[in-house]
Amino acid sequence: MDLSCLFMGFRLRNPLVAASSPLTGDLDSLRKLEDAGLSAAVLPSLFEEQIEIEQNRLDENLLRGTESFAEALSYFPALDSYRIGAEDYLDLIRRAKEALSIPVIGSLNGVSTGGWIRYAGEIQDAGADALELNVYFIPTDPAVQSGTVEQMTLKLVRDIQSRIRIPVSVKLSPYYSALPNVIRRLDQAGARAVVLFNRFYQPDLDLESMSVVPGLKLSTPDELKSRLRWVSILYGQTDADLAVTGGVHTAGDIAKCVLAGASAVMVASALLEGGPARAGIMLRELGEWVERKGFQSLTEMKGNLSHQSIAEPAAYERANYMKVLGSYS
Ligand SMILES: Cc1cc2nc3c(=O)[nH]c(=O)nc-3n(C[C@H](O)[C@H](O)[C@H](O)COP(=O)(O)O)c2cc1C
Repeated sequence: MDLSCLFMGFRLRNPLVAASSPLTGDLDSLRKLEDAGLSAAVLPSLFEEQIEIEQNRLDENLLRGTESFAEALSYFPALDSYRIGAEDYLDLIRRAKEALSIPVIGSLNGVSTGGWIRYAGEIQDAGADALELNVYFIPTDPAVQSGTVEQMTLKLVRDIQSRIRIPVSVKLSPYYSALPNVIRRLDQAGARAVVLFNRFYQPDLDLESMSVVPGLKLSTPDELKSRLRWVSILYGQTDADLAVTGGVHTAGDIAKCVLAGASAVMVASALLEGGPARAGIMLRELGEWVERKGFQSLTEMKGNLSHQSIAEPAAYERANYMKVLGSYS
């Protein structure tokens, strides 16, 4: 069964890509992921703050930071066990490129343009095949308008794009008032793919200690639905490739993503739960499903249930909201 697909100009052997997670952060587990059949791997992100902090440590300016910076510092060490330094990160890319034959995608996580984005060039020079830019921005200031947030992201993409030749994808949050327009402009700014959606790790309140506690839970399949809706709506409306991340746990989930119009399907939680072997099972079952349904390839299947292909596009729209509410019993 031909499960191959084109994503960001790469011919992948199947659409299942290892999303950025601790599993892609060391060579041994990257090898296992490749052996299990994953067709590309996105490395853990190098964070803007992490780069800035390292830079400041180097400058020995640490104590002269603003209070909010000091606060940020006290928060970031919690990431130390997962987050490797920038130099080690580049080394991981070099070693991964030597050891693997699947595309290796570097990842930068940040919001503002600044000195830190030179790492886009460093990631390229270390041999990464592509770069994923994760824009995880939480606007807390009521004076900041949505247009400003969008402009910031576009500027970041343009600035990064102008420094490198390798393709860039942008991992976005679902929280935009007019997502298709944002994606059109990202596409015009040169993004080769958009990855939908970033999961915002939600803090919780601890009632005993009366404090805010960071929360990181693995995803559930339910989270896939918002991705399916948006990929379906966006399919055919942008030249950027569409990738899903969030809530992919089974072969059926991969099939749904491709039917909606995804070129690639990125998975983290399912692999963290079941190990790389889970990918092997998902791919085998995907092949069986594709065959049972009589498709010759994934290309033939892609977008068959997208907004533009189905007889009742309203199923993805506002009208469906009324219908669903009315059907509750
Ligand atoms: C422990 C953990 C670490 C992660 N680290 C990153 C990261 O460094 N950069 C990033 O863009 N996404 C990161 N993610 C998000 C995943 O790449 C993925 O987008 C998200 O978990 C949704 O996919 P899933 O439902 O398959 O888990 C992380 C996820 C987990 C669970």
